[in-house]
Amino acid sequence: MEATFNPFSLEGKTILVTGASSGIGRETAIACSRMGAAVAITARDEGRLQETAQQLATPPAAMVTADLTDDDQVKQLLAALPPLNGAVLCAGNSTTLPIQFGTREKFDEMFDVNFFAPVELMRLLFKKKLLQKGASVVLLASIGGTHSFMPGNGVYGASKAALNSVMRYAAREFSPRRIRVNSICPGMVDTPLIHRGTITEEQLAEDAKKYPLGRYGRPDDIANGAIYLLSDASSWLTGHDLVIDGGFSI
Ligand SMILES: NC(=O)c1ccc[n+]([C@@H]2O[C@H](COP(=O)([O-])OP(=O)(O)OC[C@H]3O[C@@H](n4cnc5c(N)ncnc54)[C@H](OP(=O)(O)O)[C@@H]3O)[C@@H](O)[C@H]2O)c1
Repeated sequence: MEATFNPFSLEGKTILVTGASSGIGRETAIACSRMGAAVAITARDEGRLQETAQQLATPPAAMVTADLTDDDQVKQLLAALPPLNGAVLCAGNSTTLPIQFGTREKFDEMFDVNFFAPVELMRLLFKKKLLQKGASVVLLASIGGTHSFMPGNGVYGASKAALNSVMRYAAREFSPRRIRVNSICPGMVDTPLIHRGTITEEQLAEDAKKYPLGRYGRPDDIANGAIYLLSDASSWLTGHDLVIDGGFSI
């Protein structure tokens, strides 16, 4: 028997992870490096990005502090990147805001980071041919794009629904270069993001009981999904939104 059989291996691949200074992005960067990938990491906070770099199995292929809503900083990031076999676009934010307070300005703020930033980065990675033939792009969407999973998430949910829509068109348009595009739609995952808002710890504990598998997600639950989508194990999968939510949306 072949002792080294592992269709999920990322050996020989170079992967970009955005939002790598925290939560799902950090865990994904670490997990990809442990699966054998060379990992390029980016986020705004240099100190926390450095902490991620120190936890990688091998030194980062690139490490760039950049605000992905800023065109010039995106240009600097692109200039620093090696050719890529994959990209996991995790950078994003959330807001809890009832629709009655969801002004155009609030939608713009949310869409800037959750929709326009990853779409523009994906567009440029493709157009500038930084994504190699056969590369895999993974976008971080959310079950909030399809389900009213918690009150006050309409603005956030809309940004993720829009991202999933572009994901499907990109999957079709990038397919001649055999570049795959998929998304992950997590339910609530225990990262700094969910503790920053207005929802109390008591409300979070109560909400977690709604998850059939008995808990909120952990960053590694999502990182493992990203590994599948980046690896050759998913080489016939594109245009798919992979729901990882402990059964919440059943
Ligand atoms: N946690 C959940 O329950 C959950 C559920 C569904 C989907 N998601 C999605 O998963 C992704 C990761 O979330 P998370 O829970 O890991 O959140 P997190 O711990 O707050 O991490 C967010 C990351 O995005 C980076 N970031 C934010 N704004 C940025 C900007 N303008 N430019 C560049 N980087 C930026 C942050 O780094 P810096 O601050 O250093 O820039 C950080 O590394 C997000 O897209 C989120 O919407 C999360």
